[in-house]
Amino acid sequence: VHLVAYEEAHLPAVIRLCAAEGWPSLASDPERARRSLAAPGVIAVVAVDGDEVVGFASLLTDGEIETYLATLVVAAAARGQGVGRQLVEESFARAGVERMDVLSLPESEDFYRTFPHRPLQGFRLYASLGEAALEQ
Ligand SMILES: CC(C)(COP(=O)(O)OP(=O)(O)OC[C@H]1O[C@@H](n2cnc3c(N)ncnc32)[C@H](O)[C@@H]1OP(=O)(O)O)[C@@H](O)C(=O)NCCC(=O)NCCS
Repeated sequence: VHLVAYEEAHLPAVIRLCAAEGWPSLASDPERARRSLAAPGVIAVVAVDGDEVVGFASLLTDGEIETYLATLVVAAAARGQGVGRQLVEESFARAGVERMDVLSLPESEDFYRTFPHRPLQGFRLYASLGEAALEQ
């Protein structure tokens, strides 16, 4: 497995990885996903095994202080082999930052605990309740 900068050609595979987790944010609108991953301040990395994309990470950074890990996913068949760790480490390196914040799903908490960290409580806020029903 090697890590490369995300390019648009990776988008269908990235969408498949997200869809497999039941995550609609990228999968529901590929054109919006394309724009999102090309936005200023977004850094995205894919893990490639041969021709296959087996992992994806994206983050948002101001390049100075704040960085948020937005998406991290490894294909089910490729888990437990260090791909997730490599994606996080590569994300740190490419962003050139010392810290990043992440809203973790309960099932991934133990993965994040394997990194130097400080646990903080997080919330996802919605502009309105109606909007919330559409979001993951
Ligand atoms: C969470 C996820 C990205 C981890 O990727 P991975 O490639 O399996 O993780 P790695 O093999 O790099 O594991 C790194 C370390 O975390 C540990 N780890 C990984 N997943 C774990 C889990 N679910 N529970 C406990 N420990 C875990 C590994 O033992 C390893 O520890 P070590 O470095 O001390 O040996 C992957 O399981 C995944 O994509 N899950 C579904 C999507 C998801 O939940 N993403 C995060 C959303 S917040």
